[in-house]
Parts: sequence; structure tokens; C-alpha cells
Amino acid sequence: RTLRIGLIPGDGIGKEVIPAGRKILEALPASLKLKFEFVDLKAGFETFEQTGAALPDKTVEILKNECDGALFGAVSSPSKAVKGYSSPIVALRKRLDLYANVRPVKSVMTAKNPIDMVIVRENTEDLYVKEEKTYEAADGSKIAEAIKRISEKASFRIATMAGEIALRRQKIRESGAPSIHKSPLVTITHKSNVLSQTDGLFRATAREALAASRFSSVGVEEQIVDSMVYKLFRQPETYDVIVAPNLYGDILSDGAAALVGSLGLVPSANVGEGFAIGEPCHGSAPDIMGKNIANPIATLRSVALMLEFLNEETAAAKIYAAVDGNLEEGRLLSPDLGGTATTTEVVEDILRRL
Ligand code: NAI
Ligand code: MG
Repeated sequence: RTLRIGLIPGDGIGKEVIPAGRKILEALPASLKLKFEFVDLKAGFETFEQTGAALPDKTVEILKNECDGALFGAVSSPSKAVKGYSSPIVALRKRLDLYANVRPVKSVMTAKNPIDMVIVRENTEDLYVKEEKTYEAADGSKIAEAIKRISEKASFRIATMAGEIALRRQKIRESGAPSIHKSPLVTITHKSNVLSQTDGLFRATAREALAASRFSSVGVEEQIVDSMVYKLFRQPETYDVIVAPNLYGDILSDGAAALVGSLGLVPSANVGEGFAIGEPCHGSAPDIMGKNIANPIATLRSVALMLEFLNEETAAAKIYAAVDGNLEEGRLLSPDLGGTATTTEVVEDILRRL
């Protein structure tokens, strides 16, 4: 099988970590019978300054018509609003209907309290439909309002994806990957005790989706979002797959990333029907750019995550294992993890293990 992968480095350290992503795909063992073709694509603030568009139409067209998946580095956002500029990754998610943001948060299994969870965040609606307005109250003071939109359709498909991910994680475990979980579990997060219509619909629909017979082996539980935060920090090891509406998912996933120490470790994927973009969770890190010290692991794990969604679990598992090997040995770590290794040295160590 030949997969065509779009490469969008973007800005800052995106330009240092995306080439590492390409290298690891090229280094996968020949026995997997997987070939890759790469297409270099533009997006980001530098692209905006050069061309007037942060996300050129050509980038979207090529992704849509020619690619099986993509890797996205990071983009810089100007600190003050710049006319005509808006985030290319947000636009890309919309234009390719990448309705799920998937973020695994995993420590090494040799950690004192290992954790291994994935947060599945709905990515198209909720408060992020950005339908806001400000008006005046009778006394002239301001009131601002925002629409929180939850649909049955979007809730159903995100919960279904969470169920599929839970099954796939179980399959990977059964193939021998070390794990702290014995059986698949999906935790539905909501606040339906207060928001009975919106979050109530999310909760009921997610329950219905996960009641499908193919998920009969998947445990399903619920957690109100505020107590979810508490438990996430107290007992993170209990969670396997967490599914949440957009806003809660955004907050939970950034919070969970803190549990493993560095942003440089945490991957994500933006997923739609038959398409996935791997994206490290960190930004363009202007404070360390150009120094060859960015941690490439978030990107390498994002490559593996993209492969999972392209049904290449075996290849993905090999990348995860090579990364874990580097972290467990702990000899060649980048400075964000307390080491002195360069980006190049970390990548070389992981490629050797692969
Ligand atoms: P950031 O994630 O770029 O950096 C936060 C801190 O983490 C910095 O000290 C940085 O050096 C460190 N860090 C991040 N990734 C690292 C890695 N791979 N290895 C080692 N250290 C790493 O977030 P910040 O500083 O808030 O934003 C910088 C720029 O990135 C801004 O323009 C922001 O808008 C943009 N950004 C873009 C995102 C995206 O493309 N999805 C996400 C977050 C921020
Ligand atoms: Mg966020």
C-alpha cells in the first residue's frame, strides 16, 4: 500500500519537528509493505505574510484530492489581531470536516503511576459555533450571550468514534502492547444535571451510540465534567477513553497533557471520514526555535496516531514502542525533559530502535 501524506510544517519549531515525522515514516521496516509519498504544503503566519492567505486554497485542494493523510506542525498566531488572518488549523478542520480531535495522554509504563488515556473531543459545535452577541440591559449595562449548540448527529458520530477507538486500543493491547487497562472503557463527560437540554442530548445520544451491539465489550460510564477534572488529577490511571463535547474536551485535554510533564510529548489527530491529520499539541515555540532542541516526540506520536486512523495499527505500534524505548531508557532526552540531547539526537535514537 502506498500512502500519500501532506506535510505542513507551518511556523517556528513546526519546521524542525515535521521533517522528523517524515523520517520516521521512511524508516518503517520494509516487511510492513508500506510506502509513502510526500507532498510539501504551505500554511501558517509566514505563508500569510508571503501570500496573503494563512491557508492557501491549493493546500486544501491537494489534501482533499490527492492525500490519504497529513502532518501539521504548528502555526504562530500574532499577539494582536491582524486583518485578514485567521487560524489555518481551525479552517482546515472545517473545510475537511475533521469532526473529532483525538488526544492520547500516556506516560511510560515504568512511571510510578502510569497513565494511558485518550480524550475524544467533538470538534464542530458546542459553544465554538461562535454565535455571540452583546447588547444592553434596561439600565444600559452590557450583556453578552453565546449559543451552545449540540446536535444529535454530531454527538452520535463522536461517541461512535470513541467506541471504535476503545475497541482498537483493546486490540492493540491484546497484540501484546503493555498497558494498565484490562478492558475497554468509555467515559461520557457532560453537565446534564444543569444543562439538561444541550448536555442532556449529548449524554443520551452518546449512551445510545455506545449501546450498539458491536460495542458490547466496551464498558460505558458517565462523569459530570467538574468531578471529572477532580478525578482526572486524583486518579488519572482509571481512564481509558473519554468522550466530551467541544468546550469540555478542549479544557480536559490541555489539563490532561499536564499530567505527563511536557507539551513536547503530547500528540493529537484531527479526524474525519477517511482522513486524519496528525498534529503535535504544542505551538510554534518561538522561544526555542532554530536551536535544534525541540522535543520531536509529540510529532512522532502524532505520526503513529495518524497511521492508526489510516488502519495501519502495526506500523503505529512500532513507532509507539520505539518512542517508549527512548523515554524508558532516558539516556537521550531533550531539555524539556531534563536532558541535553538535541532534536537530531532524539530522532536518531528513536529511528535506531525502530
Ligand atoms: P507553545 O506550545 O509554542 O510553547 C509553550 C512552552 O512549551 C514554551 O516554553 C515552549 O518552548 C515549550 N514547548 C512547546 N513545544 C515544545 C517542544 N516540542 N519541545 C520542547 N519545548 C516545547 O505555546 P505558546 O508559547 O503559548 O505559543 C507560541 C505560538 O504558538 C503562538 O503564536 C501561539 O499562537 C501558537 N500556538 C499554536 C498552536 C497550534 O499550532 N496548534 C497551539 C498553541 C500555540
Ligand atoms: Mg486547547
